[in-house]
Amino acid sequence: MLMSTRVPLPYTPKVLELFRNPRNLGKMESPDVVSQAGSPACGDVITIYLKIRCGIVVEAKFESYGCAANIAAASALTEMIKGKKVEEAWSVEWKDVADELGGLPAIKRHCSILAVGALRRAIRSYYKDEKPEWLPSELTLAERQALEEEELIDRLYGGRVART
Ligand code: FES
Repeated sequence: MLMSTRVPLPYTPKVLELFRNPRNLGKMESPDVVSQAGSPACGDVITIYLKIRCGIVVEAKFESYGCAANIAAASALTEMIKGKKVEEAWSVEWKDVADELGGLPAIKRHCSILAVGALRRAIRSYYKDEKPEWLPSELTLAERQALEEEELIDRLYGGRVART
């Protein structure tokens, strides 16, 4: 009899629960902004959709072609930002998302980094014509980390990343 030699990753119960029953999963009709992070080449791609009214994130949804941690991170992130001011949503860090999940295995941190990267890209895109004061001109650490992940994945898999 063949036995699997793969060791299961130490996911927390919250990661497993959100992987099995993700919140806010699916395409949004008529979003105000949509953005992606990840690499189609390795399958780790996340799309974030936002509806924004009067500076508040009134709706947040996602689609993920990533792993369990990516789905759980995007699910937690969209829950965390709904009803918040866009400025507050902007300040959510990947570590906040990981904490919300009860922690992530070290090799799965990039899953949360990509989710936050997609959100920040969406917010920048939303304000591309009129930048509010709180939005930094320079790329933040979280955005640079997401870019590094994408470039690393590009180098490993030779694919190009669609960044919208
Ligand atoms: Fe790449 Fe999770 S998104 S392994």
